[in-house]
Amino acid sequence: MFKGVLFDLDGVITDTAEYHFLAWKKLADDLGISIDREFNERLKGVSREDSLALILEHGNKQDDINTEQFAQLAKEKNENYVEMIQAISPKDIYPGILELLTDLKNNGIKIALASASKNGPLLLDKMEISHFFDAIVDPASLAAGKPAPDIFLAAASAVDIDIKEAIGIEDAAAGIQAIKASGALPIGVGEAKDLGDDIALVPDTSHLSFSYLTTVWQGK
Ligand code: G6P
Ligand code: MG
Repeated sequence: MFKGVLFDLDGVITDTAEYHFLAWKKLADDLGISIDREFNERLKGVSREDSLALILEHGNKQDDINTEQFAQLAKEKNENYVEMIQAISPKDIYPGILELLTDLKNNGIKIALASASKNGPLLLDKMEISHFFDAIVDPASLAAGKPAPDIFLAAASAVDIDIKEAIGIEDAAAGIQAIKASGALPIGVGEAKDLGDDIALVPDTSHLSFSYLTTVWQGK
């Protein structure tokens, strides 16, 4: 049986993946760079700085921006994003997530947050679910972001379990790659065209019950 579940946040626990997209789109528009939802799939799960670098490269503007301007743009995006998430509350928790967290707790399964977002703790507080989490990995403490396995390895170690005893839940291609590289069992929220057809997938979080996780674990 699995001993821990390592959760991504944006796009898994709540709809903040959409707010990240809207905030990046505004910044890109201001820079005269056009980004669409297909391009956005490459930003999901990727750190703020790496996302900005990808956008500038996409617009072929990476050489026009100096270090100071880069930091200013990253700050601007975050300020806009943080404004968007102020109204997040428990009613924004995705379907099935609260029940899943409750069932995991009642079954003695460890719960950890493996999100690249520095806004993760704020969001958990706003949704009033911080108390479910036995550990929250600080993404700033890691040598490499997703798709590197570091954040999932750190999450398993923070709750004192072997990574091979963990399930990782992700909505991003970079995140699924990170889970696979870590040795945890991946479950994807989304479509095979984005996440691949070789892992357990649910179309949305309402399918993420404790019994579904148990079935996937037993079938691995
Ligand atoms: C998550 C999201 C990304 C976001 C990253 C950093 O991985 O999927 O879209 O860029 O976190 O978030 P932050 O809130 O620190 O800018
Ligand atoms: Mg995500």
